[in-house]
Amino acid sequence: MSDLPIVLTGFMGSGKSSVGKVLAKKLACRFIDLDAEIVETAGRSINEIFAGEGEQAFRTLESAQLERVLATEGRCVIATGGGAVIDQRNREMLRKHGVVVNLKVTLEQVMERLQGCDDRPLLAGERAPERVRALLEGREQFYADADIRIDTDGKSVEDVAAVILCRLKGFSA
Ligand code: S3P
Repeated sequence: MSDLPIVLTGFMGSGKSSVGKVLAKKLACRFIDLDAEIVETAGRSINEIFAGEGEQAFRTLESAQLERVLATEGRCVIATGGGAVIDQRNREMLRKHGVVVNLKVTLEQVMERLQGCDDRPLLAGERAPERVRALLEGREQFYADADIRIDTDGKSVEDVAAVILCRLKGFSA
């Protein structure tokens, strides 16, 4: 297994943070939640950043945190935000400095898992399912740009972490 950070990518609700915590425990390494790093550094919630400065400002903070974490951390597990892979430079950084593990999720799972959540500004308001579908389809090519892809459908957090561990054993970056 390589010593690079393991970077989890995937849509909102794909389980990156829950799986990442379990995976980091199994690997006895640090877990880093990129959204939490952004919130801590900015001193504002994601909703507040989107509402006050807009999505582009959030993306700039996201890229800066990603670059910082990848430059300073060795073996660790990083959960990225669902949109971190949109930016080409971010994707290049991830592929170069990490082992990228994408968690695949269906529209139905996203809607079920995020029902009642009010901390995802991109899902707020009317016609959320239509918008989620469009975002999922538009981002598929970016999520596919990964070293390992895992289908999370019907799997528990523990199951997904176990599958990742197994796939990582055969992976040398
Ligand atoms: C976003 C996903 C969120 C967060 C922000 C934008 C996205 O993270 O970064 O609300 O563009 O998909 P999670 O994937 O952890 O929910």
